[in-house]
Amino acid sequence: MGQKVFLSLSAPSKQAVPATTPDDDYLPAAPLLHRFERGDEVVYYNAFTHNWVTRDRGAPEPTTAEVDELAAIDFRFTPLEMLADPHLMRVEITQACNFQCTYCIVFENDLDQLHQHMSVATAQSLLEWYHQNMPGGTVMLIGGEPTLNWDACKVFLDGMPVEAGKELYTNGILLSDDDIRYLRDRNVSIRMSVDGFERHHRQRVNHAGQTLYDQVIDRFQAMLRLGADVGINCTMTPHNLPDMVDIHHHFVRELGARHINYSIPHMTVNSDVADGFDMDTYTAAMLEIYDDAKRNGVYVAQIMKRLAYIARKRFKAIGCTVIGPEVTFYPDGKRTLCTKLDSHPKTSSVTPQDIYANLPFFMSDCRQCSAIGICGGGCYWDAKTRFDRFQDMRECDFQRKLLERMLWDVVDWSRSSDDFPRMLNDVFHTKMFG
Ligand SMILES: C[S@@+](CC[C@H](N)C(=O)[O-])C[C@H]1O[C@@H](n2cnc3c(N)ncnc32)[C@H](O)[C@@H]1O
Ligand code: SF4
Ligand code: SF4
Repeated sequence: MGQKVFLSLSAPSKQAVPATTPDDDYLPAAPLLHRFERGDEVVYYNAFTHNWVTRDRGAPEPTTAEVDELAAIDFRFTPLEMLADPHLMRVEITQACNFQCTYCIVFENDLDQLHQHMSVATAQSLLEWYHQNMPGGTVMLIGGEPTLNWDACKVFLDGMPVEAGKELYTNGILLSDDDIRYLRDRNVSIRMSVDGFERHHRQRVNHAGQTLYDQVIDRFQAMLRLGADVGINCTMTPHNLPDMVDIHHHFVRELGARHINYSIPHMTVNSDVADGFDMDTYTAAMLEIYDDAKRNGVYVAQIMKRLAYIARKRFKAIGCTVIGPEVTFYPDGKRTLCTKLDSHPKTSSVTPQDIYANLPFFMSDCRQCSAIGICGGGCYWDAKTRFDRFQDMRECDFQRKLLERMLWDVVDWSRSSDDFPRMLNDVFHTKMFG
């Protein structure tokens, strides 16, 4: 014990793509702390525990005893703690759609059971499965366009407890005011796709090539007006990325959005629409959006899902819930690990055990990374197809820069409020901090 290892990450650099094999001996040889500087201050940070201490710059470095204390990690802990009982059920309620978006993860990937609807009988048997296996858990209704199979949606929405989590992913076009009231009264979180201004919706068109943008915005505003819980899912591609910050301001200031998700593009085998996606531009925009979210009380999923781990001092072991609390069902009721992994010969033999054994926690390069505690590796489909490992390395630099920014905020919030992290509920318009 006692050898000091500080990694200075004040000027983050990109890491080379490392080897894919897990380490046999994954315990670090010495305590590993990351060191960041800001003005006259230095923070030393344990990326596994999210513990930190600050010093004035120029003050003596922490003593060996202090380093040992800060660097301590309970190695009885493993990522297994995240492989909890299932409490998230993803239902592909239909693999049909009234749109044909250029980047669609379903159609541009030729997923299994394309164009098939789930029958009401299958929906009923899955609802039964829900009651028996995860009562009170959350159900995501997705596809394809779930509103095309409204009867099957209603089996879940009527058959689940009002207080249980229910999420509907939709392009919104088919939802009438009455449908929206119905969703509101059943406590459904609507995740509506809006990719920016009208010109950006050339990537989201119906089969006649129309964006129907006015209708999309009209339906989003109806959801807000009628008091439904609605958030925007905005898929970033090279097409809308240059305008990302303007899009964000428009969503917040003009449309009144308070919950936004800015996805980076998933791999599609038939389309190159996501190729050439510039992560540096995305990162710079997200850091601006982060500041705006703090000022205006906006929940941005890519930020909050990471900040929550630092604030609660929990290690994020998995990048996607499919090897944790989530189970996924196709329209015919068949269970699958992941529709994307499952539908392609190169990835269809991937098992949860493969993913588990190759999590960042077991990777020597990831163990050196300041962002390991907020990472989990990202999407396994993207990771495997793009990098032939289970880490989506597109996100590394973004995560390290965001980590440093959030860490300093956590330092400031901890000093200025006795009510940290609960006070983050007000800052980011959320209830996630208890
Ligand atoms: C597959 S759609 C299904 C629900 C509904 N049809 C919709 O478009 O909202 C769910 C979300 O995935 C997003 N999406 C589709 N293809 C994607 C891709 N290649 N990368 C990232 N997100 C994608 C969509 O924009 C949408 O927000
Ligand atoms: S509306 Fe949704 S499911 Fe339909 S093509 Fe677009 S992204 Fe895919
Ligand atoms: S950001 Fe994640 S995937 Fe990238 S090196 Fe760090 S821990 Fe590994």
